[in-house]
Amino acid sequence: MDNISVSTTDVRIERHATQLSRQLKLLREKLFPPLSQKTLRTFSSGEAAHMIGVSDGYLRQLSLDGKGPQPELSQNGRRSYTLGQINELRHYMAKLKPKDALSYLPWRRPGEKLQTVAVTNFKGGSAKTTTTLYLAQYLALEGYRVLAIDLDPQASLSSMLGVQPEFDLADGDTLYGAIRYDAGRKPLKDIVRKTYFDGLDLVPGNLELMEFEHETPRALNDRQKPAELFFRRVGIAIAEVEADYDVVVIDCPPQLGYLTLGAVCAATSLLITIHPQMVDVASMSQFLLMTSDLLSVVRKAGGDLQHDFIKYVVTRHEPFDAPQSQIVALLRSLFSDDVLTATILKSTAIADAGLTKQTLYEIEKGQVRRSTYDRALESVTAANSEVLAGIHKAWGRT
Ligand SMILES: Nc1ncnc2c1ncn2[C@@H]1O[C@H](COP(=O)(O)OP(=O)(O)OP(=O)(O)O)[C@@H](O)[C@H]1O
Ligand SMILES: [Mg+2]
Repeated sequence: MDNISVSTTDVRIERHATQLSRQLKLLREKLFPPLSQKTLRTFSSGEAAHMIGVSDGYLRQLSLDGKGPQPELSQNGRRSYTLGQINELRHYMAKLKPKDALSYLPWRRPGEKLQTVAVTNFKGGSAKTTTTLYLAQYLALEGYRVLAIDLDPQASLSSMLGVQPEFDLADGDTLYGAIRYDAGRKPLKDIVRKTYFDGLDLVPGNLELMEFEHETPRALNDRQKPAELFFRRVGIAIAEVEADYDVVVIDCPPQLGYLTLGAVCAATSLLITIHPQMVDVASMSQFLLMTSDLLSVVRKAGGDLQHDFIKYVVTRHEPFDAPQSQIVALLRSLFSDDVLTATILKSTAIADAGLTKQTLYEIEKGQVRRSTYDRALESVTAANSEVLAGIHKAWGRT
């Protein structure tokens, strides 16, 4: 008898798992060698001037006068700036023109509370991670201090932001390290790491996050030493680093577990991603009912469920698809202003950029076909700027 026919299902599946994981590791190392560091492209002087809010001529004069950081000069005399330099220039301009400081350096002011945006939906593949990533990068490019938290054990956000969960993380290097119930707990500031994106820091994720789902029921039953309530732990950890950021963006896992509930309670606003297809929207009504049930339990136990805004974001939208249009129209008629006006278009440019672990914000313009790139990028930026408007409103800015 050959081996296959005698192997039981568990043994067979284990063999498949080992084979697959070995192949995937090889593939990943080939595509993205462990030691290669991700870097962010530089920005042309035109792009930099636009981002800072000055004219290209003014920026050129600054560099000729030797003021502010010096751009890199190419052989044909083109100047380019790193995001770090653009942020230095934002500081420089804010100091030079204190009256307009906020337009150059939009950091939050005293009295403007930290904004924590949780991106959620228990529907797998509804573009939560993509939405989180683009929002985090957008805000960082706009000059905000951003912390992205990867709450998904699958850790796709971390790997998009240059951290490879298999190679780069030790025990306690995820949010779990800061919310665990035992003595191994450590401060969140020891877990946060810088990314290759100036102004964007990351709390990475990996499988260890699952421990929180397993330990919470135990902690809830432990009458000897009542643990700090599970739904406060994410918020308490974030509060430890509050002073360093303007916005925290959390990528939730596709389950309504304790981690997601913790994120929802820590959040000042929610973004619920929707892929406008009948099957997805049908499961969404179930998602909303379950969420509401669970949240009411949490609220009665003392959880904070005041949110500055809750917005539905239509993602992977195909505006020329009739059934999709009907669903989007239905959502708008039911939820009106709670649905973002802009939708994030389905685009091969976004999907392909995901494969090369880059977003459209990172790609040099020449690298992809312009029209698809422009349309997709415009749609994401429009959605992100609506979220930013919500944040400004929460801060009381006009
Ligand atoms: N606007 C888009 N256009 C094309 N493809 C997209 C778009 N948004 C997301 N995708 C692709 O859809 C897939 C799922 O997206 P994503 O990983 O962001 O979803 P998710 O909700 O985080 O999934 P999970 O529930 O597994 O965490 C990915 O392959 C991603 O590249
Ligand atoms: Mg995800």
